[in-house]
Amino acid sequence: MSETDFTATGLASNSPVSSRPVSQKKIFVKTYGCQMNVYDSARMIDVMAPEGYAETSSPEDADIVLLNTCHIRERAAEKVYSELGRLRELKAEKAARGESLVVGVAGCVAQAEGEEMRRRAPVVDVIVGPQSYHHLPQLVARSRNGGPAVVETEFPLEDKFESLPAPERRKTLSRGPTAFLTIQEGCDKFCTFCVVPYTRGSEFSRPVSRILDEARSLAEAGVREITLLGQNVNAYHGADAAGRPATLGALVRALAGIDGIERLRYTTSHPRDMNEELISAHAEVGKLMPYLHLPVQSGSDRILDLMNRQHTAETYLGIIARIRAARPDIALSSDFIVGFPGETEADFEATLDLIREVKFAQAYSFKYSPRPGTPAATRDEQLPEEVKTERLRRLQALLSEQSEAFNRACAGKRMPVLFDRKGRAEGQLVGRSPYLQPVHIDDAPAELLGRIASVDIEEGYANSLRGRLVETEAVHA
Ligand code: SAH
Ligand code: SF4
Ligand code: F3S
Repeated sequence: MSETDFTATGLASNSPVSSRPVSQKKIFVKTYGCQMNVYDSARMIDVMAPEGYAETSSPEDADIVLLNTCHIRERAAEKVYSELGRLRELKAEKAARGESLVVGVAGCVAQAEGEEMRRRAPVVDVIVGPQSYHHLPQLVARSRNGGPAVVETEFPLEDKFESLPAPERRKTLSRGPTAFLTIQEGCDKFCTFCVVPYTRGSEFSRPVSRILDEARSLAEAGVREITLLGQNVNAYHGADAAGRPATLGALVRALAGIDGIERLRYTTSHPRDMNEELISAHAEVGKLMPYLHLPVQSGSDRILDLMNRQHTAETYLGIIARIRAARPDIALSSDFIVGFPGETEADFEATLDLIREVKFAQAYSFKYSPRPGTPAATRDEQLPEEVKTERLRRLQALLSEQSEAFNRACAGKRMPVLFDRKGRAEGQLVGRSPYLQPVHIDDAPAELLGRIASVDIEEGYANSLRGRLVETEAVHA
């Protein structure tokens, strides 16, 4: 934490000690789960900034420690309770020194377990759901009166997004040349394994004008690549200037018109919402990156039906064919669940077949985890852990083979790379390719950071690429 960070809050001048402003209050936020939580964590810091809180990277220094949690699988939720055990010790140590610590839990575990968490973890002072964190200052203030945790997990009617600080007033707007921008939140699809419709509520889309304002502010702050976020991002239907619902395809076209924004992505999509307009945007909007994360979960129609995904393996393959026709160089990524209740060896083989047919550049795969309150959790045919482990191993072996083959096939190609960080070795820079692969180059001019340049890819590895800069004079933006 540097001196400039203190002065940026405007509190340094109130400090009795000019060299070290003792009055500065600090907040530490730890983020679990999906990219939307990353976005939300930054907004929570923004909400606390006008209250005099600056971000710190150390919980020991903090006056508030906030855990922004994920409930998607059992393991994700358990991590929160073990972290709360550590925080109980920290709070006791601080109390012994006469210092106070407010412990807050935000995000999807807070939403799902609100009251139960208050009983199970008395160390917690504030419990706030994903739709209510704009109320953090009041909740923190109320918690200072002592007593049991202050819980806010209602889905308030007022719009959270409208209550957050405007983009130009955000301290955390940009942390480099790439940024997330939440455009849609919540889900009405109710896949039978998933907690998201319960933790994030029903679908809500932000109006186009607000998204464009935020994107313009990001561009001014040096952001070159924006990833549009939503639990169901392609179900986006926010109001346009005429008050009519806009599609994601239309929004992407509008965002592509913003100077400074060179690259657009969106995640996570549902196959059912991959409409023609969005597919044609992949053909026509050069700034839309040729990479699509489109979760399928399973290749068995029987399991897809039990999951309530409302599409078949064939419809999924049909969508992939249309996207590839629109944008032949597109790379695909997906999510898979193995061991859904009742999944047979034949069902699992159907998933492997689908993977062999599509050839994914990247993928995430998980053992089915029964989640309280979801329909699949109460089904009789839960599979033994060993079966899930063995299927996951086979699935991941195939997926890693495919992603490594994809990376190796990049050798010899020329790609635009957005440089976003320094490498470990002196003079090394790391960027991201259009396909989200990390690209390492040696002997790179430091001024390339935050910019896009052409790179000749020399070698592809399991998880990254190495290349050589083509022409520094052709650096954009
Ligand atoms: N909205 C996205 C998914 C969000 S959750 C979609 O519709 O695809 C991210 C991924 O977590 C899911 O795609 C799924 O693969 C996995 N997941 C969700 N619930 C799960 C559960 N109960 N057990 C295991 N994996 C799960
Ligand atoms: Fe969960 Fe399904 Fe909604 Fe995705 S579409 S968030 S998996 S319920
Ligand atoms: Fe987890 Fe909530 Fe995201 S459950 S995956 S943090 S929407």
